[in-house]
Amino acid sequence: MSRRESSAPIRSFIILSFIIIYSHCVNNPVVGNGKVFVNFHYQSYSNTSFLGQMSVRSNLFCITACIQNPNCRTSTFDTANRNCLLYTEFTALGQLIPNNGMVTFQSRNPRNCFNWATEYDTDHPWGDLDNMNGINKTQCFRWCEMTVNCVGAAIRLASGSNSTGHCYIKENIQFYYLVPVANLVTWYCS
Ligand SMILES: *[C@@H]1O[C@H](CO)[C@@H](O)[C@H](O)[C@H]1NC(C)=O
Ligand SMILES: *[C@@H]1O[C@H](CO)[C@@H](O)[C@H](O)[C@H]1NC(C)=O
Ligand SMILES: *[C@@H]1O[C@H](CO)[C@@H](O)[C@H](O)[C@H]1NC(C)=O
Repeated sequence: MSRRESSAPIRSFIILSFIIIYSHCVNNPVVGNGKVFVNFHYQSYSNTSFLGQMSVRSNLFCITACIQNPNCRTSTFDTANRNCLLYTEFTALGQLIPNNGMVTFQSRNPRNCFNWATEYDTDHPWGDLDNMNGINKTQCFRWCEMTVNCVGAAIRLASGSNSTGHCYIKENIQFYYLVPVANLVTWYCS
């Protein structure tokens, strides 16, 4: 953090207060629906996650646009030019980058991912939410889709099977740490 950013806490307080007060007034549990990161923008992992942009009056309208778009999981609002960017991705894939005047919102609702990527024989250790043995690929994938905060899943197929195995659902996928593992199928929201 640079010295220039010394007014950031005050600005954060004002913006957050506005959101909380406004959302209370319109009876829209905006903050409860997700998490707001003041003075951060979202750096997506994949360009395919970019849904589009629009000009809106305030961060609240940007958040509302994200909530109303079934494919949106993350929005970033730029208070300087009032630009609102919407993404299908989640921070488990992309990154929050400190940036004065930007407000990023993340939905915590389970959402259908717009674009699932499939990967074979590569494990991304850690980030597991839960695991279950003896289920098939469809069940594993659906389990993730139905789970709040799941951004990907992996199934290690049992020997001799190309459908059933040990399923891991993930809240976080590390793209910098890869381990080759045979008979592993991974899906992640891209
Ligand atoms: C994403 O888009 C930017 C700008 O259009 C481009 O410079 C970059 O190479 C793209 N990245 C990927 C991974 O396609
Ligand atoms: C997975 O299991 C479910 C429930 O037993 C079954 O309905 C489905 O057809 C199976 N899918 C595959 C691809 O084996
Ligand atoms: C794997 O699936 C293919 C079709 O997708 C099928 O032809 C093959 O017999 C299966 N192999 C095993 C070992 O289940």
